[in-house]
Amino acid sequence: MKYMCMNCKFFAYDEDLGDVKINMAPGSKVVDFPDTYRCPVCGAPKSYLQQVSDGVVSSKKIDDEDQILGKDLTYYRDRARDMLTGFCGVYPVCDGDPDHICTGQKYGAPIGLGGAGQAKTFEANYQALQQYRLKMRVIKNHHEPEMLVSIFGKEITAPIMGAALSGVKSSLNDAIPEEKFYWGLLKGAQNFGSIGMVGNTPTSPEDLGVSIVGENQGWGVPFFKPQSQDRLIKLFKMAEELDVIAIGVDLEGAGSTYWVTPEKRVFRKGEDDLVELVECTEKPVIFKGIMNTADAVKVLDSGARACYVSNHGGRVIDGGQGVAEVLPDIAQEISGRIPILADGAVRTGFDVLKILALGADVALIGRPIARMSISGGKKAVKMYFDYVKDDLRRAMILTGCDTLKDANMEILIN
Ligand SMILES: Cc1cc2nc3c(=O)[nH]c(=O)nc-3n(C[C@H](O)[C@H](O)[C@H](O)COP(=O)(O)O)c2cc1C
Repeated sequence: MKYMCMNCKFFAYDEDLGDVKINMAPGSKVVDFPDTYRCPVCGAPKSYLQQVSDGVVSSKKIDDEDQILGKDLTYYRDRARDMLTGFCGVYPVCDGDPDHICTGQKYGAPIGLGGAGQAKTFEANYQALQQYRLKMRVIKNHHEPEMLVSIFGKEITAPIMGAALSGVKSSLNDAIPEEKFYWGLLKGAQNFGSIGMVGNTPTSPEDLGVSIVGENQGWGVPFFKPQSQDRLIKLFKMAEELDVIAIGVDLEGAGSTYWVTPEKRVFRKGEDDLVELVECTEKPVIFKGIMNTADAVKVLDSGARACYVSNHGGRVIDGGQGVAEVLPDIAQEISGRIPILADGAVRTGFDVLKILALGADVALIGRPIARMSISGGKKAVKMYFDYVKDDLRRAMILTGCDTLKDANMEILIN
């Protein structure tokens, strides 16, 4: 019987080698590690140990949200590690580290929760953001941080939203049904007081996400891949009828490896295409995948209602720039004229404050809430947002920010 540590990925326990003495009930198929047991290689707690047989980690799929009420984030993270075995180690930091199981060259196989190619863009998102540090400043009269944001005619409790996600089958170990995943994202964000987004994936009907936003009384944002204009316009019309909050197109999805079948193809879009899409609906349109000022100006000129700075979490291009590298220039060009959304390795409330200081109006979170929706649905997603908001409040207090306007380059050093 072997156990692998999902933190360091070295075998931590091998009964045959007898390297660690653990008491086991006779005939038992699982090792009952004591609560204090830690990986002898890296020291991770026992929850990081996964049973493996012939080098393959066992996968338990637990599906009943009701059984898991009242648990904390660590509990949901541990559960996600179990449900996403082989796809995600739920490491202490989700940073595109080349030693993590999600990263590394996949040679045409699905990228799971990792990044394109060698995942260097995923890593660059993290490195670029962490290169900035927050300046502490504590002597100033106390002011409770104000973080309400108005966007798309709605008020949200904090400048934090859930990024568009999809593809449980290809990226998330087929752990729960795609529909259930979307509900967790949408309701979790809504119960937190914000707005969730859902993507679309070729392994599900392309209108699945928008239909579920519709069932949620329109509270959410469906994102569509940049398919043919005809298909997109049909999907936009459907979204409008379902009275969604806004409609997004991930322009960077033109590089999606999955949308390559003749029936489901994706394309690069030109300026006229953007204008046509904006003009075909009364709803606010968001264009995502913007990583330079020239594109940002084109989004502004198209009449879109938000410019979304993102490289898809490093999942479409390798060897690319991190979002924090390009955001300040983009903000300099378009800030104040159109809301700027940004994502890429935002993990904590401190990261949210940094990305706002670099020029975003709203920070979006991807992988962490994907794990939460898989392991604990809306409860866990909301819990993650609450945790981020708590740290954002703390970060604002400790950097002298009374309002979100105070979150600017002055509070950063690199
Ligand atoms: C599993 C997974 C699925 C995703 N699916 C979509 C999608 O369908 N549409 C989309 O616009 N972006 C999609 N993204 C990208 C996210 O919206 C977002 O840009 C990215 O996750 C942000 O980086 P982060 O995960 O480091 O926070 C996906 C990301 C992941 C990890």
